[in-house]
Amino acid sequence: STPSLLILPGDGIGPEVMVEVRKVIDWFGAKRDLKFEVSEDLVGGAAYDAHGAPLHDETMAKAQEVDAVLLGAVGGPKYDDLDFSVKPERGLLRLRKDMDLYANLRPAQCFDALADFSSLKKDVVAGLDIMIVRELTSGVYFGEPRGIFEEGNERVGINTQRYTESEIERVARSAFELAMRRNRKVCSMEKANVMESGILWREVTTRVSSDYPNVELSHMYADNGAMQLVRAPKQFDVILTDNLFGDILSDCAAMLTGSLGMLPSASLGAPMANGRPKALYEPVHGSAPDITGQGKANPIACILSFAMALRYSFDAGEDAARLEGAVNAVLADGIRTADLLGEEGVSPVSTSEMGDAVITALDAT
Ligand code: NAI
Ligand code: MG
Repeated sequence: STPSLLILPGDGIGPEVMVEVRKVIDWFGAKRDLKFEVSEDLVGGAAYDAHGAPLHDETMAKAQEVDAVLLGAVGGPKYDDLDFSVKPERGLLRLRKDMDLYANLRPAQCFDALADFSSLKKDVVAGLDIMIVRELTSGVYFGEPRGIFEEGNERVGINTQRYTESEIERVARSAFELAMRRNRKVCSMEKANVMESGILWREVTTRVSSDYPNVELSHMYADNGAMQLVRAPKQFDVILTDNLFGDILSDCAAMLTGSLGMLPSASLGAPMANGRPKALYEPVHGSAPDITGQGKANPIACILSFAMALRYSFDAGEDAARLEGAVNAVLADGIRTADLLGEEGVSPVSTSEMGDAVITALDAT
């Protein structure tokens, strides 16, 4: 049956970049006979305006049924004073929580044409292609007890790092499955030297690795990992880590390659009946109110998020590579949205011109 895709453009530049992704989706339907049953719905502030809630129950139900969800961005100044329970971000949090998306995938990929744009030396990042798998639903951000308590004559702030074996095991499996489709290397990062959860993390990942004899597993303390990521990032393929370390390491890795406007992500959950993982794809960036409505938004992060959907939800790895190749070709031609401008004298293209350029490059593949 035709694979299904739910599109949630959201707020701010979300709908602007999603228009360009729709062009790409249409291209694959027309030129590669890759058809999707596409539906579109509201999330975030847009959903609040229509329904008084940042995610309608019907939208949530639809998200649970489709093969993949593609989201733009949520939030904006218009909604800043809303009660926390109906803030736009709550729509996104509910999607992640109800779909139980425990594996957050953040690639750090350096397109050749942007190697100069990195804050690191060109040869450190040229050709870089790594994937960080961050545990997203447990760990210190969720562990109990938590709170600020009275203790003697002062207060104490408490968070608890907590991981069960099954929580570690399932995200480790996601990382190993991913490594099987890539370069068969997983580096697991924790702090087993000082943390009990780290000791268990190391034990469970080692056990899971015995199911993947073709994948090489290594372990690294997360602080050394941060250093290695900046010193020599190309030594890695898949990095597997917990929620807290993953938050920091993935932001760090993101800046290896340049602009926020280039960064895709995926959040995956348990396999569904058809074997595909529950999946939400979204750019890393937010709704960018400072440039909304000006045609300045870079649509590449969202386009590359769709490329991840092709690869991880729709078994279309070749077409994902085709799309990534088209993006690379556009950048190699010197076509830049404003966020990618470093050099003087280059004038930026608009959001829709960038989308059109990707289509032209796809036509040339
Ligand atoms: P942001 O990511 O929206 O913007 C940060 C800076 O990067 C801005 O200067 C923006 O213009 C620029 N930028 C971001 N995406 C870009 C793109 N595609 N092309 C060109 N430039 C781009 O983060 P900020 O400003 O902290 O948050 C703005 C709103 O977005 C807030 O309401 C925040 O809560 C929300 N947000 C939503 C996220 C999501 O939907 N997943 C993630 C982060 C923030
Ligand atoms: Mg962060």
